[in-house]
Amino acid sequence: MTKNDKFKLTRRTLLTSAAGVATFAAAPRLFTPAIAQGAPLKVGMMLPYSGTYAKLGTFIDNGFKLYVEQKGGKLGGRAIEFVQVDDESKPEAATDNMNRIVGREKADVVVGTVHSGVAMAMVKVARDTNTLMIIPNAGANDATGAACAPNIFRTSFSNWQTCYPAGKVLFDAGVKNVATVTWRYTAGAEMIGAFTENFTKLGGKVVADLTVPFPEVEFQALIAQIASQKPDAVFSFFAGGGAVKFVKDYAAAGLNKTIPLYGAGFLTDGTIPAQGEAANGIKTTLHYADNLDNPANVAFLKAFKAKTNNDGDIYAVQGYDAAALLDIGLTAVKGDDKARDAMIKAMGDAKIDSPRGPLSFNKAHNPIQNIYLREVRNGRNEMISIAQAAVDDPARGCKIS
Ligand code: BEZ
Repeated sequence: MTKNDKFKLTRRTLLTSAAGVATFAAAPRLFTPAIAQGAPLKVGMMLPYSGTYAKLGTFIDNGFKLYVEQKGGKLGGRAIEFVQVDDESKPEAATDNMNRIVGREKADVVVGTVHSGVAMAMVKVARDTNTLMIIPNAGANDATGAACAPNIFRTSFSNWQTCYPAGKVLFDAGVKNVATVTWRYTAGAEMIGAFTENFTKLGGKVVADLTVPFPEVEFQALIAQIASQKPDAVFSFFAGGGAVKFVKDYAAAGLNKTIPLYGAGFLTDGTIPAQGEAANGIKTTLHYADNLDNPANVAFLKAFKAKTNNDGDIYAVQGYDAAALLDIGLTAVKGDDKARDAMIKAMGDAKIDSPRGPLSFNKAHNPIQNIYLREVRNGRNEMISIAQAAVDDPARGCKIS
């Protein structure tokens, strides 16, 4: 590594914050395992704080820290400190970033990330080093499928889980043929794959399978193809800045008046203020809706607004629940994370009263949760119905029994 590279990593990639203590110093700290319950537990937040998924990463971070603050800066009685890495949603840098957070920064637990490709590189390092990892967004099926491991948990979703129910939603709505459109990477392929699996099983037809490379936002060619193909509907996956641009471009071309746009809920979660009227009427499936009228959601949205002056969204909820899950594990072992087996057992058995509704975990440590059908109305994602209750990912290839 050149001096210049080192400077870039220190300045740009590694950021520092803390519930109690600021931790990152340019020099590696001496190896002093934090087994004493008095020593803070070091949580490595590896998230995108820049790029197309920057807002998603920031909301996860804020959701996690909100929960820790509500517990007085401690989980399971153990003080929490943070080290942050901006992964920039770049899979090519993910292994190095994860090695730094685990090896050099000596995080006891890693929370990350948003992008499926980055997450799979992190999963490999977590497996190799037996680091406890909680995924607060990335849906890569394999993370709780073929690559599942006792030390890997997810508080978000699998890509399959959010979109399989949508196949039936569209078919039941009378849609016979669909064009799909997404970014060309794991999340897009797996979400469109799950939708297609269910939709075609029921008798629907996918007439065009359109993609652009991640994180490109030049959608005009795709939109022209959709306009000439005239499918009954479009099913899509985009998120963050890309979702804002796609929804606006779709409406600007007038297609929202003639060809209904559906998608995975990421298309409109956390993005409606930037999409404006272009988002009206879009129907999506997701494990959250803004108007879920349960006490946990009402309290969460109020507290998140008070902390950040922003409306909470699914990313904030997933971060909040990641902290809740860690709290359950640490509480079971009175803060001693070295009592790993008991901690993992408590986390696997957790039943969380989440803002999204009931949340539990399957043997692969992926959430079992409701998937809601939502529609954008009144500037928010309002629940229309439960598209499929208590959806459990098939965990294909997972060997945990
Ligand atoms: C993913 O890459 O897994 C992903 C990114 C943003 C939203 C949803 C999923």
